[in-house]
Amino acid sequence: MTDDEPAEHIRTDGGTAEGANEVALDPWGSSTIADYRKLFEEFGIEEFDDVLDEVPNPHYLMRRGVIFGHRDYRPVLDAMRDGDDFAVLSGFMPTGDPHIGHKLVFDEIIWHQQQGGDAYGLIADMEAHSARGIPWDEINEHSRDYLLSLIALGFDTEAGELYRQSDNDRLQRLAFELGGKANYSEFEGIYGFDGETNISHMQSVVTQMADILYPQLDDPKPTVIPVGPDQDPHVRFARDLATRMRFFKVTESFASFELTDTERPVVAAAYDAREEYAEDADVPRCGEAAEWVADANLDAAGLLVSESVRNSAVEKLKNAGMEPLRPRIRFFARQATDEAFEALIEEIDGEKRRYEQHIDAFEIDIADAEDLAREVEAHHGGYGFIPPSSIYHRFMTGLTGGKMSSSIPASHISLLDDPEDGYNKVKSATTGGRDTAEEQRRLGGEADKCPVYELYAYLLTADDDEYAKRVYDECVGGERLCGGCKEEAATLMREFLEDHQEKREEAEEILDSLDIDLDTERRGIAAEH
Ligand code: TRP
Ligand code: SF4
Repeated sequence: MTDDEPAEHIRTDGGTAEGANEVALDPWGSSTIADYRKLFEEFGIEEFDDVLDEVPNPHYLMRRGVIFGHRDYRPVLDAMRDGDDFAVLSGFMPTGDPHIGHKLVFDEIIWHQQQGGDAYGLIADMEAHSARGIPWDEINEHSRDYLLSLIALGFDTEAGELYRQSDNDRLQRLAFELGGKANYSEFEGIYGFDGETNISHMQSVVTQMADILYPQLDDPKPTVIPVGPDQDPHVRFARDLATRMRFFKVTESFASFELTDTERPVVAAAYDAREEYAEDADVPRCGEAAEWVADANLDAAGLLVSESVRNSAVEKLKNAGMEPLRPRIRFFARQATDEAFEALIEEIDGEKRRYEQHIDAFEIDIADAEDLAREVEAHHGGYGFIPPSSIYHRFMTGLTGGKMSSSIPASHISLLDDPEDGYNKVKSATTGGRDTAEEQRRLGGEADKCPVYELYAYLLTADDDEYAKRVYDECVGGERLCGGCKEEAATLMREFLEDHQEKREEAEEILDSLDIDLDTERRGIAAEH
């Protein structure tokens, strides 16, 4: 994913729009991402490459590094591999025509559906109205266009669900519940909302939180949200709210005192090493473990912890003195009703010890404990949410260089563009070519900076990796000149649009047969934003 990536990788460095030298993840700003690496360092997004090998038949957008990042995608992959339930959901703001950038997300939803996931596509009409000030008649029209393209590209409407936010009652009830766990200062901190922000915009945020958790309303399941990285604040907030809604917190513990997540592995290592220091290895004492931790070579044990973490672990162990060190699972009653707490206690097998706000169980492992807590919660009126996962794709560079934007027609190709216009836009796109043909032959083109190459990699070569690689190699090798290359791309684009638009016509009937209201006149004045 770097500029010096060897040419055998079909990678594109798209999205490095000029003029952007700052990384700000702002869902309503004009996010251009200058340096994708910063997203890993500053925001804790994980690299997609780390999980790529675990994906069964990865999509070409994954293989080519267009999908570059993720948050906690593994539970989804595990479910995919094991044939367990999982879901995919993403949403679209109907502010304009769907364009080739949105096609990435459509494809991601459809691919997960084809891998066996429950699939959801939603129209963020409340967000469009409140955050972008789009009037309802326009929203209706654009909504229709998004849904038609999603269906035309292969979304199975019999297996999956499409909805618009404002018409979904279950969603709104969930949004209301989630709003009870969020407060205004968080909105200020996360989204920069202030005294001028209209209230409906805030409502659209809790609605998006509800969207993200909606696939789990009937049953908790791993869920992936494919989006651009500008949506990451929403994903993080939704993960947080999912956790806040839980009845119980389940942790691993070793004695009566609490451990932080960084101290826990240190104390676990001490327990594992008990033969080395305990007078009676069957009953190692906290005080004995404290001495071991104080002197142990933790680095050698693969524990890279700071001295302050070591010291605090030692302190806690020392204070517990003669108390036996003994692994256990601790269930905290976070916000469970007494009844749910009693039911949990009842359900725990084997030795258990009860305290005021928590219960320790000695004969259950962490995975079973998590499942049990979720089950009891679900039986007592809770949701049992699993924190949602996400995957992030690069933004496409505009055809004119810079950002691809709905408001600059020449910068993007709408899925509704006349195929001839699509052809022409590609023909007049900026390239990564050199000034003269002679130079191009000598130095090769700069495919990594070329919006036309991006079109090949993101869309035009579809699943054909060899084709994408050939374009890349020929370009950087100086065998390919921009004129012919653009002609080829433009022709493919025209064909794609012709084909897509034909399929959209076929999709009309399917869309009309669904219970989605896209015509009713709605009253209202778009919010100022
Ligand atoms: N906020 C998203 C956008 O600006 C749209 C959206 C609404 C969404 N709800 C969602 C995206 C849930 C992913 C998941 O495009
Ligand atoms: Fe871009 Fe094609 Fe020119 Fe290479 S040859 S710079 S890929 S237009």
